[in-house]
Amino acid sequence: MVFILPFLLGLLSLDRQSTRIARPIESIYQFGASKSDTGNGVRISPVPLAAGRLPYGETFPGKPTGRFSDGRLIIDETTKALGLPLLDPYQNRNASFKNGANFAVASATALNRTTLLLHGIVPSSAPSLEIQIGWFAEHLRSICSTPSECGDRLRNSLIFFGEIGGNDINYAIDQGKSFDQIRALTPSIVGIVITGIKQVIAMGASRFIVPGNYPIGCFPSVLIHYAATADNSTTLHDENGCVKLANDVALHHNQLLKSALAALSQEHPDVGIEYLNLYDPLLDVIRSPSENGPFRISYVVVVSSLSLYRL
Ligand SMILES: *[C@@H]1O[C@H](CO)[C@@H](O)[C@H](O)[C@H]1NC(C)=O
Ligand SMILES: *[C@@H]1O[C@H](CO)[C@@H](O)[C@H](O)[C@H]1NC(C)=O
Ligand SMILES: *[C@@H]1O[C@H](CO)[C@@H](O)[C@H](O)[C@H]1NC(C)=O
Repeated sequence: MVFILPFLLGLLSLDRQSTRIARPIESIYQFGASKSDTGNGVRISPVPLAAGRLPYGETFPGKPTGRFSDGRLIIDETTKALGLPLLDPYQNRNASFKNGANFAVASATALNRTTLLLHGIVPSSAPSLEIQIGWFAEHLRSICSTPSECGDRLRNSLIFFGEIGGNDINYAIDQGKSFDQIRALTPSIVGIVITGIKQVIAMGASRFIVPGNYPIGCFPSVLIHYAATADNSTTLHDENGCVKLANDVALHHNQLLKSALAALSQEHPDVGIEYLNLYDPLLDVIRSPSENGPFRISYVVVVSSLSLYRL
């Protein structure tokens, strides 16, 4: 943390004329799931969530808020680096949303319930991406009335679109789908993410950061799932002790997402759309935990995401 902050400040002061889309960021809108949720899930879940209790939030911000972490999330580091206040969860109706709003909800999926059920996957009750986009539309109706007026209001904003879609894969793994079945699902997941971005572009947003999936094969839940199955051969794990095929699915997803985003950028040359690699920074932390520490990923990701826009 000590050594990365000067680097971060260096990036913040880079020449702003160096890119066509370099404009100050005055507001942020976040879509996503638990890794970005700053308090929507705890407000709307029909059952109490663990993140509503200690030790979540004990260290930061000092009490449980619904963040699934005891430290800052990537979005918290981002707002901090930009000198903006913490992003209010949209379900906190007391908030002003002057500097944006967070629509992310823990355990949300990219595909909606109907579509997942068609694939034999049962999601949680958390609002899927299309519902989060509906909230954004509702929010915009309260601050502007035409796409061009909304475009003006959104001019100095940044949309953090994800990570979303990882839970679709996590549920499929938990519910015993084969890796071939899950791989076959990834084009639909990426497709709905792209559809969502197009909808948000149509509402006037012009600057996006779109994170890909993490090395999910290293997640404790995935390791435990496969430790409990009959197929527990040594070939299941890679050199980092992660489930290799699960990481392959995440890499495949990310590859599809990157290509789709490149195509979308071509369709919308006036919109900034940047893919953000979350896979490698987290893998670095897993490979060298003592060097990196658990929360370094936030710093690394924030530095790389802000540098995408030369801010
Ligand atoms: C709004 O603020 C009041 C008073 O601080 C609090 O009791 C209430 O829970 C808040 N509502 C929401 C939706 O967060
Ligand atoms: C779910 O998503 C599909 C595919 O995008 C869409 O056609 C359908 O209308 C959605 N269903 C519901 C209930 O929202
Ligand atoms: C699965 O493999 C791991 C690593 O080889 C081992 O530690 C664990 O005990 C095995 N689990 C079962 C249920 O055999």
